[in-house]
Amino acid sequence: MAISENVKKLMGGSSWVRKMFETAAQLKLKYGEENIFDFTLGNPIEEPPQGFKAALKEFALKPIPGMHRYMPNSGYPETRRFLAQQISEETGISFTENHIVMTVGAAGGMNVTLKAILDRGDEVIVPSPYFVEFGFYIDNHGGVMRLVDTNEDFSLDLEGIEKAITERTKVVLINSPNNPTGVIYSAESLQELADLLRAKSKERRIPIYILADEAYRTIIYDNISFPKIFEIYEPSISVVSYSKSLGVPGERIGYAAVNPLYAGAEELIGAMIFLNRTLGYINAPALMQRLLPHAGTNHVGPREYQRKRDILYGTLTEYGYSMVKPQGSFYMFPRTPIEDDLAFVSDLQENFHILTVPGRGFGKEGYFRIAYCVEMEVIERSLPVFERAAKKYGLGQDTKVKRLLRK
Ligand SMILES: Cc1ncc(COP(=O)(O)O)c(C=O)c1O
Repeated sequence: MAISENVKKLMGGSSWVRKMFETAAQLKLKYGEENIFDFTLGNPIEEPPQGFKAALKEFALKPIPGMHRYMPNSGYPETRRFLAQQISEETGISFTENHIVMTVGAAGGMNVTLKAILDRGDEVIVPSPYFVEFGFYIDNHGGVMRLVDTNEDFSLDLEGIEKAITERTKVVLINSPNNPTGVIYSAESLQELADLLRAKSKERRIPIYILADEAYRTIIYDNISFPKIFEIYEPSISVVSYSKSLGVPGERIGYAAVNPLYAGAEELIGAMIFLNRTLGYINAPALMQRLLPHAGTNHVGPREYQRKRDILYGTLTEYGYSMVKPQGSFYMFPRTPIEDDLAFVSDLQENFHILTVPGRGFGKEGYFRIAYCVEMEVIERSLPVFERAAKKYGLGQDTKVKRLLRK
């Protein structure tokens, strides 16, 4: 056998998102780009903000000697100081550069964190539906993923989480705003989670950590306030990405921050810095680190994404699709009109040229994910096609009856 049996198994169950994205590319070649509605991948179309471009130009025109050399594995102190100040202002908790590791995107941040915490066989609780890469990251470091279904409205099922906790539980991994549902976990539910984990951690050598994947923390709608995990739970780590907020996923830049209020913060961050090197990342991309303090706070897209959410949510629910209203990120996760999400998504693809991802790709059959980080024009053209699909499945009848009854 030329490759690992485990990797072969993991690859077999690999990403539906990628599968659908590749199908979309083939269909575009066959039918022409303008005839395919591609809602498969969370790859933002917006260009980075002006501040980012200006700083990039400045560094190219006036390079700093040594700017392409190796650096501390945790990243440039001035970038980390800049971020520490930002988080301190946001939370009122005193962060320094020593609580921050610059990482190769959120993906890199999740991997160094999980590797630092997990021993073989340790368990990570993940509320589901979930971003499927989490399973691979956990497996990378010998961990075991324990999925716990969320409630109907995709809020945290705290009883379910309590039942899933064992002696081997080391981490609860939350992702808010959520991919694929767009839900933001409320401060109350996180407070309850924190109380539960504090009680469960009491007799342990190390606590149960909350690892918060905040890749979409800047894409929040309706002025909803985003709960700060550091204010809620001490043994917490937040992983942040600039992929979506600056529209630079190809540049691979993010960071992990450890809560200074956690007594073991220094040891944990020391392990993460060591792993940033030994997992082979060495450090996060130098130029991107230099740019961050100059990129400004003008993040790409939240207003445009909200408009897109409003149009899609308003129209699709009017057509009879049923879904929880997204509060952030740029995904929505409607129910499929038939139980078999794969059959529905295949039909949408083959007969309507709408490409989405089946819910089973996120651990939840009976749903499908729409990534609406696409041009408005694509959304507008797709609406009558979604309507035709809705009619084919008899959706919207209820909505019409309800409207008539209201009159
Ligand atoms: C929930 C979630 N976490 C992490 C990532 C990866 O982010 P990055 O590009 O910073 O590695 C993504 C990317 O789509 C994501 O959806």
